[in-house]
Amino acid sequence: MVEIASRPARPGHLARPTRPGALSADPVTLPPVAVPPPHVTPHVAPHVVPFTRTRICAEARQAVADVLESGWVTSGQQVIEFESELAAYVGADHGIAVSSCTAAIELALRALELPAGSKVLMSTVTFCGAAAAIRHAGHVPVLADVDPVTAMPSCDTVAAAAAGCGGVDALVVVHLTGLPTDVRALADAAGVDLAHVVEDAAHALGTVVGDEPVGSISRATCFSFYATKNLAIGEGGMVTTDDPELAGRIRQARLHGMSADAWRRYLPGGGWRYDVAVDGLKANMTDVQAAIGRAQLRRFDVDQGRRAAVAARYDEGLSGIPGLRRPLRPLAGRHAWHLYTVRVEPAYGMGRDELIDALRARGVMTSVHFIPLHHLTWFRDHCIVPAEGLPGADRVFDRILSLPMDAVLTDAEVDQVCAALAESARRGGAR
Ligand SMILES: Cc1ncc(COP(=O)(O)O)c(C=O)c1O
Repeated sequence: MVEIASRPARPGHLARPTRPGALSADPVTLPPVAVPPPHVTPHVAPHVVPFTRTRICAEARQAVADVLESGWVTSGQQVIEFESELAAYVGADHGIAVSSCTAAIELALRALELPAGSKVLMSTVTFCGAAAAIRHAGHVPVLADVDPVTAMPSCDTVAAAAAGCGGVDALVVVHLTGLPTDVRALADAAGVDLAHVVEDAAHALGTVVGDEPVGSISRATCFSFYATKNLAIGEGGMVTTDDPELAGRIRQARLHGMSADAWRRYLPGGGWRYDVAVDGLKANMTDVQAAIGRAQLRRFDVDQGRRAAVAARYDEGLSGIPGLRRPLRPLAGRHAWHLYTVRVEPAYGMGRDELIDALRARGVMTSVHFIPLHHLTWFRDHCIVPAEGLPGADRVFDRILSLPMDAVLTDAEVDQVCAALAESARRGGAR
């Protein structure tokens, strides 16, 4: 059973307190209705296709109710179960549930025990959370340029960025939009051992690189369960790893650095004493979140199937629109279709920013992933950016546009988006 939580209200559709003609015990005064004169065609607001919707399935709602009823709502048995189920799903030995992907990246980097001030290479075209995590772990982000085709670093851009700063100590790899990138080849090009690679897999639950699922490739992989993600809890994250010692360090650091089984203190037989042996964060996941995550994971493959079908329908509906480049498909492995991101080329006849407004006027909401980090003031000042700039990222940024994508998008909505893009191309005088 598919249910949609918090579907945004459609503009032009106001909630009516009563049916016309119905009687109410508590009469309300409605504002006078403006009736258009007969010669004016009333404006019909288009159906709004939101950029993304968070769907929490019925099983998850029941699971939350059970947790709330149980008398224990923070980290407990649900978290333990979710950790082992998600780790098994991606083929890793350990899962450590945390409060966000950003916290997961920080904790994973801290657990690598690199010297303070180490240089950590990452893409400039990604969400700022990873760069903040590197800083908060006590290190320095080094921004790599991207290949304008994939919008992700290539072996060449990674090698150039590493050489440009005299070598790097670690690497954060992102699978942007869910498109697989070759983690091992990038590590090689950066001169970094796979043991010093952390994956930012916020878009990549379900991504497969070659024949390896993301979550089982590098030393530590960090997932997000933020409201817009393909496995949505609302907030939450997870680190997966095959390294038991790394897992232990992350597990301890996520809850103030308290001895690992701190939550058991409240269970029958639990002792009240604990130790704090490391500098930790407050970044644990609650049982309420984990219960949602477990139920969402059980229907994840079905949802991913719908995302793939949406991507295929977009591919077909957008073919032949001049100047609109559809997303790359991996030659090997699997795209998770967290996002469906097109490129608005000059031949489209209308710039990306103008197109965003034109689509909005047709009820189609879009987004941009991402504003390059070297365009953001704080990161420009706190990351290592090559003197020659990051021209590949600058070029990509002006053209990328993410279309509506979620597992409840209907065929009719996809068709509405495609029609709006075709119509805007005609208006823009696509060449
Ligand atoms: C690529 C990427 N990395 C990291 C994050 C941060 O995830 P979280 O909100 O769970 O910290 C996001 C969130 O949007 C993201 O898109």
